[in-house]
Amino acid sequence: MRDLGLIANAGVLCRAGKIAWVGSMDEWSGRLPDDIAELDATGTVVLPGFVDSHTHMLFAGDRAHEFALRSQGATYQQIAQEGGGIMNTVRSVRAATKKALKKPAVRCLAEMMKQGTTTVEVKSGYGLGKDAEIKMLEVINELRNEEVITVVPTFLGAHAIPPEYANRRDAYSRLVMEEMIPYVGKKQLAGFCDAFCEHGYFGLEETERILTAGKRWGMKPKIHADELTAMGGAELAAGVGAVSADHLEHVSEQGIAALQEADVVATVLPGVSFFLNHGYAPARQLIDRGVAVALASDFNPGSCMSFSMPMMMTIACTQMGMTPEEAITAATLHGAAALDMSSTIGSIEVGKNADLIVEDIPDYRFLAYHFGVNLIRTTIKNGTILEF
Ligand code: NIG
Ligand code: FE
Repeated sequence: MRDLGLIANAGVLCRAGKIAWVGSMDEWSGRLPDDIAELDATGTVVLPGFVDSHTHMLFAGDRAHEFALRSQGATYQQIAQEGGGIMNTVRSVRAATKKALKKPAVRCLAEMMKQGTTTVEVKSGYGLGKDAEIKMLEVINELRNEEVITVVPTFLGAHAIPPEYANRRDAYSRLVMEEMIPYVGKKQLAGFCDAFCEHGYFGLEETERILTAGKRWGMKPKIHADELTAMGGAELAAGVGAVSADHLEHVSEQGIAALQEADVVATVLPGVSFFLNHGYAPARQLIDRGVAVALASDFNPGSCMSFSMPMMMTIACTQMGMTPEEAITAATLHGAAALDMSSTIGSIEVGKNADLIVEDIPDYRFLAYHFGVNLIRTTIKNGTILEF
């Protein structure tokens, strides 16, 4: 993760949306075709676009009120127990039309691109009922078809138990497995199926059943694992062959070993720990034990109201002991691996998609070092230089 393969005085040639050549300009001997657009990036750093592999960026309403309550000592769990938290956003999403859901999301995706993200995973999970979950996934798929940024949809019907099922939790799991998953699978609305494996949300066995049902319908498993307590979510991720185990603030020793053994990507979300003032995932230990660590924002209105990948890198370096090089790998190539897309995105290699960012910085380390400002000068998506 520390080897970025830096090239000084580099050039990149993009053709038909793909990277056709990359290397030192000292080695370039070809002639550029006349019709090619040239971008002078002298004095900048060019990196692969960020892959934000875990977000809940489609939502309605906001939770500024909860943020203010937390600033006065209330905890995320207390707020959730009192009917706020995820359910607060669920009420807004259920009441919103597709158009109303989509409008702020379009603006948000454009802003993400300005800040260097070229691929973003987006989860459902604020509907918690068949109609509202499908409404979310349909909007996510519209965004996927219409927007420039690559949108990767994930089904998260198992995000929480809605209050109308509080006394019959099993019935909600069955609804997810027997009605939602087959519909989502048949209509191919999501490539991944995720579940929040946590006390008060979905237990280990429930999570396993849901993810197995998802697999039967062609959805690859992901897990919100060991976020609030050491549940054994990481071990389950390894057991069901999940592509990634996300959060991991409380992952156990055995959990780390299981992830390593089964080649599951560990996606750490330091923005959540920062925003909720929780402990951080043991990223240093995960990396030292040979686990592939990805960094994502988890952008959502409750536990992390930021989609700035450089901000996540800064927190990763200052709070989790990751080096700037590791943070870059985690935000690019390993983010791609967490979406099973590392053969097409995540690094500047011949044949991969030409998703690049140009930063106005003298040294790649400035990306994490100079925090709280947007250092991205230009974003290139599928070979097209974007004008903002
Ligand atoms: O990843 N852990 C569960 N879900 C989200 C929070 C969603 C919310 O609070 O709206 C998370 O942190
Ligand atoms: Fe999440």
